[in-house]
Amino acid sequence: MLNIAVLVSGGGTNLQAIIDSVENQTLKDVTIKCVISNKSDAYALERARKHGIASSCISPKDYGSKEEYGKYLAEYLKEQGVELVVLAGFLVVLPPEFIREFSGRIINIHPSLIPSFCGDGFYGLKVHEAALARGVKVTGATVHYVDEGTDTGPIILQKAVEVEEGDTPEILQKRVMEQAEWVILPKAIEMIAEDRRKI
Ligand code: GAR
Repeated sequence: MLNIAVLVSGGGTNLQAIIDSVENQTLKDVTIKCVISNKSDAYALERARKHGIASSCISPKDYGSKEEYGKYLAEYLKEQGVELVVLAGFLVVLPPEFIREFSGRIINIHPSLIPSFCGDGFYGLKVHEAALARGVKVTGATVHYVDEGTDTGPIILQKAVEVEEGDTPEILQKRVMEQAEWVILPKAIEMIAEDRRKI
């Protein structure tokens, strides 16, 4: 069994894709131990509650420094027996101490084909605005391991999505989520769980 924590900041549609995959058994041998948001009003927390998953708000605002926040978060996740941390629309940059503590055990979903439209300032709708402004014909999503840079860790999975005539950032975001993010995020978790099964 692979114990995961899902960290969120907003609507939680990627979290929902993971919950659905666990419940319908396409994601086997995976337990969602907890869902953590940095925002108390994130709808993602409600999604977790509806499925009986422990959920809490742990915000950097309540700690003296990013380092202190990272330490608390790491301790909390270790107490829960978390083995893989999944960043699913989590918009806090985690401190280096936390990344080192969970080295090789943190993954993130990003709504573009890295290395395009990624790094500082590229998150959520801004990514799709930038893709449309550049006029790319193909975009997509990437699941990657998290290292101490922003969107610089090793790539696990990518899926391309076509840009269509008349796309707005919102329409493109929805297509990228439906066709790419909700597919490759559960799949990447499954690959990691599968590797453990082999070991
Ligand atoms: C998703 O599109 C995710 O890829 C993006 O935020 C959205 C969260 O949606 N993450 C980033 O931009 C990280 N750089 P959700 O809360 O509905 O899953």
